[in-house]
Amino acid sequence: MTPVSHRAEAGGCPFHQASQEEAVSPTGCPVSPRAAEFDPFEAPYQLDPAEALRWSREQEPVFYSPRLGYWIVSRYDDIKAIFRDNHTFSPSIALEKITPASKEAQAVLERYDYGMNRTLVNEDEPAHMARRRELLEAFSPEALEAHAPMVRRLVREKLDAIVDRGRADLVAEMFWEVPLTVALHFLGVPEEDMEQLRRFSVAHTLNTWGRPSPEQQVEVAEGVGKFWQYSGEVLEKMQRQTQGKGWMYDMIEKNRQKPDVVTDNYLHSMMMAIIVAAHETTALATANAFRQLLSRPAVWDELCDNPELIPAAAEECLRHSGSVVAWRRRATREVSVGGVTIPEDGKILMVTASGNHDPSHFENPDELDIYRDNAVDHLTFGYGSHQCMGKNLGRMEMRIFLEEFTRRLPHLELEEQAFTFLPNTSFRGPEALWVRWDPAKNPERQDPAVRTAQHDFPVGAPEAHSIVRRVRVARAEPEAEGVLGVTLTDPAGRDLPAWTPGSHLDVVLPIGEARKYSLCGPPDAGDWRVAVLNEEAGRGGSRWMHESVREGIELRVRGPKNHFRLDESAQHYLLIAGGIGITPIIAMADRLRRLGKSYELHYAGRSRTSMAFIERLERDHGESLRLYPKAENQRLDLSELLAEPCEETLLYACGPERLLSALEAGTAHWPEGSLHVEHFTAEGALLDPKNEHAFQVVLTDSELTVEVPPDRTLLQVLRSAGIDVPSDCEEGLCGSCQVEVVEGEVDHRDKVLTAAERASEDRLMSCCSRAKGKKLVLAL
Ligand code: HEM
Ligand code: FES
Repeated sequence: MTPVSHRAEAGGCPFHQASQEEAVSPTGCPVSPRAAEFDPFEAPYQLDPAEALRWSREQEPVFYSPRLGYWIVSRYDDIKAIFRDNHTFSPSIALEKITPASKEAQAVLERYDYGMNRTLVNEDEPAHMARRRELLEAFSPEALEAHAPMVRRLVREKLDAIVDRGRADLVAEMFWEVPLTVALHFLGVPEEDMEQLRRFSVAHTLNTWGRPSPEQQVEVAEGVGKFWQYSGEVLEKMQRQTQGKGWMYDMIEKNRQKPDVVTDNYLHSMMMAIIVAAHETTALATANAFRQLLSRPAVWDELCDNPELIPAAAEECLRHSGSVVAWRRRATREVSVGGVTIPEDGKILMVTASGNHDPSHFENPDELDIYRDNAVDHLTFGYGSHQCMGKNLGRMEMRIFLEEFTRRLPHLELEEQAFTFLPNTSFRGPEALWVRWDPAKNPERQDPAVRTAQHDFPVGAPEAHSIVRRVRVARAEPEAEGVLGVTLTDPAGRDLPAWTPGSHLDVVLPIGEARKYSLCGPPDAGDWRVAVLNEEAGRGGSRWMHESVREGIELRVRGPKNHFRLDESAQHYLLIAGGIGITPIIAMADRLRRLGKSYELHYAGRSRTSMAFIERLERDHGESLRLYPKAENQRLDLSELLAEPCEETLLYACGPERLLSALEAGTAHWPEGSLHVEHFTAEGALLDPKNEHAFQVVLTDSELTVEVPPDRTLLQVLRSAGIDVPSDCEEGLCGSCQVEVVEGEVDHRDKVLTAAERASEDRLMSCCSRAKGKKLVLAL
């Protein structure tokens, strides 16, 4: 394909003088052949936008597309940086027609007095936040919780209608109609001609994000004009009512109270835009999720067996195959994105679907991994002060759909079919989704209680604690005196995922609490091995493991998670283990040996018989190993071992807290960052309201201010305000809830940050750390 030429508007490229025929960007720089060929309306992008931009993520993450007249941004960090700064990157073009209207279409729109203008999503500051703050209440977890029974009822009614049928197109039967009805209920808009509303929405999507042919343009404009007219009529009807309930009524009321903040035109534009925003996004996301999950029967079966995983699975589907795949911004000044200069007024298409597949942020991004613990970082809801206000309603709907189907139709299968998509840049989901099942096998035929035995999930981002996997104990045998070696396998016989040295599992005990055990077998054997010391003076977890874990039983585990990563770049390593602390250390030693690195392993314990893995260590690490059994009067002399600091050496240690404290003290004269330790307990991190003070937190990306009272953690308060911050341990041990600090003195309570990191005052762990003073400013 020959590049399409585009006239340079400004400047010239310092490296290359473009010839007449070559495509150039508005800055005058030549456009690469792939960039010149890029067309989001062609098959590759329409079928799979993340895949279609793989080349860009890898080689040219910001490029100018002459065919679209937009700058395309495909990497996670660049997209997030744009979302963060809506002053430099204005959202004003978010609802602009990506294909300008033809004269005929324009005439049609004028006939309908079409005046779609500012809503929330395309409004600049300061007007936007003033409006958003006024309208947030309907999205609080409590307010949304009240809609759950309505969503459940609607899904159930639709499912009842098909459950004995054996075959259905789920999109036609319910995936668009339920979200549309939910949206209308949420907004307080009367349910009218649903088919007509669906046609209107399709016209609106094609009009805004599509490339209709000249003939289609007129037809689409008719649909859009009618939608505009219809929205105005419904709005007038609602304005005449004084008792109505729903988010549109909140807006009407605010329009009465503060007409300069919630303006008349806003009301009419919003009425039209929100019907689409609130339903199409969710309908398509649900269809995508079912398609992805059903095309992986083993994953579907896991969800049926373990419904706790549904929120995490829905989130992972939003990451892997979201319904909004690209969003727009306009540069308000010349600005550099990913090292490329975008001129003032440059239009930007952020391909969020591509960012969601960026390996620099998501490990194995192309895999659909329902156990992924940072899926919540996806960009499908946008980010920052415009981030989707309805995300928790959308999540709720997807979860209820999945929960009802996995319970009532676990034997559902995806039919072979060719999927089609409405051609546009931003909204994506199959137009039909055919599934089949054998109604004779419906569990409710045997047990009618299955129909109503529901599982409810809290409103909000999925909780890390719910990402639990069932594993079977394949072997449980003594590893040393008082140490039980346990080998875990997948109950369905699949390989368990590989892990990296330093990883641990959280084993969930029957009382609901979890205990951490480091993985210590070969990392890619398809099974997982841990060793558990029976701690008489402990909290009872290890005793339960010793008494109850037998071959054949199932355990519930979270992970593997790695908060103790091995930096493989050093020249030499000192590995130090005390007692059962050998478990992560042996995995590190195995890895270093395989890499051919230089290392010493110092292992102290009570006696040879109580020290796990001695035989294996002597066999595999004989020359590098030093053993210190106390019973043989062998003592690990840290002052001697650590006397000479060495630039090229890294220390990794695990063992009792007193050993770790001694190491911290003993390496004070070593270069910063030499010592890496793993803590398994977090004294000092848990909240004690009696000794805390309240403080204020200003969130710069979201343009919000929140109060943290003495009895709540910063993380809890952020979540209540609708900010999704990933978390895991929630006791200052793992680092997953880290947020960037812009201003303010932090009272650090975690065990993750080094002294230098603390001193830099630029980050904190939101699950445990607080403000020293009265205020913190965070980049959230
Ligand atoms: C904004 C996606 C469901 C209401 C947005 C944005 C995206 C999005 C990408 C723009 C964010 C930005 O500019 O940073 C989605 C997806 C959904 C969904 C993927 C479902 C899976 C909903 C629902 C509602 C809703 C159910 C309403 C009840 C809104 C509103 C905004 C918005 C009001 C504008 C927020 C602002 O600009 O301040 N959504 N949405 N969305 N969404 Fe959603
Ligand atoms: Fe683990 Fe905060 S969630 S440090």
